Amino acid sequence: MPEQELEIPGRIAIIMDGNGRWATTRGMNRIDGHREGEKAITDTVRAGIDLGLEALALYAFSTENWKRPKEEVDFLMRFNKELLDLRVDEFHERNVMIRFIGRSEGLPAFLWDKMVETMELTGGNTGMKLNVAYNYGGRAELVDAAKRIAAEVAAGELDPADIDEDTVAAHLYAPDVPDYDLFIRTAGDVRVSNYLLWELAYTELVFIPILWPEFRREHLMQAIEEYNRRTRKFGALI
Ligand code: IPE
Ligand code: IPE
Ligand code: MG
Repeated sequence: MPEQELEIPGRIAIIMDGNGRWATTRGMNRIDGHREGEKAITDTVRAGIDLGLEALALYAFSTENWKRPKEEVDFLMRFNKELLDLRVDEFHERNVMIRFIGRSEGLPAFLWDKMVETMELTGGNTGMKLNVAYNYGGRAELVDAAKRIAAEVAAGELDPADIDEDTVAAHLYAPDVPDYDLFIRTAGDVRVSNYLLWELAYTELVFIPILWPEFRREHLMQAIEEYNRRTRKFGALI
């Protein structure tokens, strides 16, 4: 389908997977795969801006990724700080609002400080919302929402009888970004790995068998083409 005829899904969530496999199949260190993944991240964010996306979510570090060897975890923390140093100014100039979704606990101060600085710098931008899921877990997000709702009930600000789906949605990490339209996971695994469990309830899931370091704008367009072949029914009849 010609690109100009495609319906562009406004909100896209990506699991960037396969960095380790990209490296090990080449006899390299897993860390080299993460490094190589930077090109894909930059290309994808630029493409998202060009396409006029409302929101792009990238899964960069999960609450489960702490189980990896310490050297890899330490590298990822440093590397994410480096990435921000490298790209924040460009994305800020392009009016991107960068936000980190996830828990701050456990993150090294050098990274968390940079994240806060980035959110403060770009928080007023009105272009694409870039939600970087970092120390993020979908279950943790729902637990955190439940705690905040419970605190409001305990403070007498909220009647439990009034809690509905909108209440939960309003207490998520990025309450201004409603459900995602398109989910993309690279590298061949067909699972959601604790990503956006609430927000993906009716999202179209597309799996692209390309390792993340090789993912480029053309693969994003392939996923968007697949999205255009889907019929979204939301439980109704069409
Ligand atoms: C995704 O690539 C990046 C992170 C989870 C940080 P992986 O590191 O999971 O790569 P594979 O799945 O081992 O190939
Ligand atoms: C999901 O990928 C997390 C990120 C991409 C940051 P994983 O590679 O950690 O997920 P599993 O272990 O294959 O489910
Ligand atoms: Mg993986």
